[in-house]
Amino acid sequence: MALWVTLLCSLVASLLGGLYLLGAFRRRRANEPPLDKGHIPWLGYALDFRKDSSEFLKRMQRKHGDIFTVLLGGYYFTFVMDPFCFGAIVKESRAKLDFKKFASELVRRVFGYQSVEASHKIIQLSSTKHLMGDGLVVMTQAMMENLQKLMLFKMNSGERERTWQEDSLFNYCYNIIFRAGYLALYGSEPHQGADNKEKANEHDRVHSDELFYEFRKYDRLFPRLAYAVLPPKDKIEAERLKRLFWSMLSVKKSRQKDNISGWVSDQEQSLAENGVPEYMRDRFMFLLLWASQGNTGPAAFWLLFYLMKHPEAMKAVKEEVDKVSRESGQEVKPGRPPINVTRDMLNQTPLLDSALEETLRLVAAPILIRAVLQDMTLKTSDGTEYALRKGDRVALFPHASVQMDPEIHPEPHRFKYDRFLNPDGTRKDFYKNGKKLKYFSMPWGAGISICPGRFFATNEMKLFVFLMLTYYDLELLDGEEEIPPIDSSRWGFGTMQPIRDVRFRYRLRF
Ligand code: HEM
Repeated sequence: MALWVTLLCSLVASLLGGLYLLGAFRRRRANEPPLDKGHIPWLGYALDFRKDSSEFLKRMQRKHGDIFTVLLGGYYFTFVMDPFCFGAIVKESRAKLDFKKFASELVRRVFGYQSVEASHKIIQLSSTKHLMGDGLVVMTQAMMENLQKLMLFKMNSGERERTWQEDSLFNYCYNIIFRAGYLALYGSEPHQGADNKEKANEHDRVHSDELFYEFRKYDRLFPRLAYAVLPPKDKIEAERLKRLFWSMLSVKKSRQKDNISGWVSDQEQSLAENGVPEYMRDRFMFLLLWASQGNTGPAAFWLLFYLMKHPEAMKAVKEEVDKVSRESGQEVKPGRPPINVTRDMLNQTPLLDSALEETLRLVAAPILIRAVLQDMTLKTSDGTEYALRKGDRVALFPHASVQMDPEIHPEPHRFKYDRFLNPDGTRKDFYKNGKKLKYFSMPWGAGISICPGRFFATNEMKLFVFLMLTYYDLELLDGEEEIPPIDSSRWGFGTMQPIRDVRFRYRLRF
């Protein structure tokens, strides 16, 4: 009899424990945000969220307002859509809201990299030194030279023709920016003497193209890999690609390169000094490749696409770029050396800046996530105080809550290249409910996890567009081309990608 009672008790206890883990007993407590667990135990709304996060969050916002808690795959996420609360969240102390926990789980799953305590600090220190201030001048120059290597190498040869060439815009932009960025950061083939220089350049062109080809395969698998929902065949492919990148970017191979950037070599060295073994540093190299190359190419695609769709924007930006070239004293003519666009030249392009910011407003859509480490409260702009529960996660999705808000950005779906400028050329302020906003577009995230490569990324995209507009006439093959729909499985991962490519043609301007 006693045995039966023990067994029964254990069964009931396990059942209750299971239900508890599935979230069946969670109830909204006083002062907590509205709670919506969906209908599927444990999963909650995970499927809807994964299918189209933006659509799902807008639906929840209509249902619950600017703050709500939803169950997603066993975790309770409180989404905050009120932009006046963003500052309080991104500036909250790490003892209460931590971004590392979620980030390190993700990087382990997708890159095989096991984070050490110092990883974030190492990224920050190296990025401040090499991707900002004086370091940025060096990196911008390296990017410039690699863009020349990839885009302008035929310019002075007999192959230079003034005929139209057709291509697919997304692939074209992504390919060139990825390869130039990769060569600038990870270094190039060494050579001795001028004779071997062209051979080494050709090696760089071929090698970087092969790397891009493999990267795109991984890129396509990425969202499902991050959600851990890859079918077995794709899982095997993702594993193969991961190993390929660990090997292609390995510390050993990088030591044989010339011109490796301080950004990459310093981080590698600091990890070694922190006791991270070499095989794990190879994996970190892959993480850096992803972080540095996964967003700029797609963003440059959208920028060029929007400029081609909006002739008045194209004309204005082209005039600005031409003026800056002229004033630098460089002649863009057949037989002349390729133009060298410097960081100082890039600082004289307010229209291009605004067009880029507008593009990022439309297509950059990260989800910022923090783990709640202690029970705490959050005050919204209407004065209500909400309790946040330890163990939950807090998330921001600025694309839906600010970048597409018609009150902040009228006609939010339209590309207005000068949206971020006042008529006198100064930077515009943005308002909601009559109050000035600090966070009106957040392509780079914010706070402790803000993108440390944002200044370099901006220069990479601007250099590429500068060169494209300086050297080429560009047009869409189909003048009536619609804006291609975006791939809704990628919300939350950075720059959005189109579900199909767009054909365009380009021809030397002179
Ligand atoms: C259009 C281009 C880019 C966009 C939209 C972008 C956006 C972002 C965002 C939103 C985050 C933060 C994610 C979070 O809060 O968890 C991030 C992180 C990061 N980005 Fe970027 N990024 C871009 C280009 C670059 C470039 C060119 C580099 C480096 C050369 C770079 C390096 C990084 C690194 C290393 C991190 C991780 C930071 C950390 O863990 O502390 N990004 N990026």
